[in-house]
Amino acid sequence: MGDVSFLERLHNLQDTYGYIPEKEIVSLAEEYDVPKAKIFGVISFYSMLYTEPTGKFIVRVCDSLSCYLNESDDLVRAVKDYLGIGHGETTEDKRFTLEVVECLGYCGEGPVMMINDKVYTYVSEKKALNILSNCL
Ligand code: FES
Repeated sequence: MGDVSFLERLHNLQDTYGYIPEKEIVSLAEEYDVPKAKIFGVISFYSMLYTEPTGKFIVRVCDSLSCYLNESDDLVRAVKDYLGIGHGETTEDKRFTLEVVECLGYCGEGPVMMINDKVYTYVSEKKALNILSNCL
């Protein structure tokens, strides 16, 4: 189950549905003859895989040390307030899912925020709200 093709299948399901529905998890569990819990465990290990539908825009704000030293906590607070949701939650209109995450790999350019596949660096609160308001 730890091979690349299994992960590729999970990613393909994620791309197809926007998340991995339980019925697909059940079929995988039968096919690989493993408990469903094991597949849930793999999915929860990877931050890009979801078992629930997500918003159209997945907003990730880094809260690791380098970004924290550049006041990412203020950024996280501003984004939470703007969206009205907390970490791991999705707005009612299904536009945004928010995740406060570990290092995104742009530590010298923090605070860092990602929306879907696009990375934003040196993100001030004002810049974040401007970016979010343009997510249509
Ligand atoms: S600490 Fe934020 S991108 Fe690395």
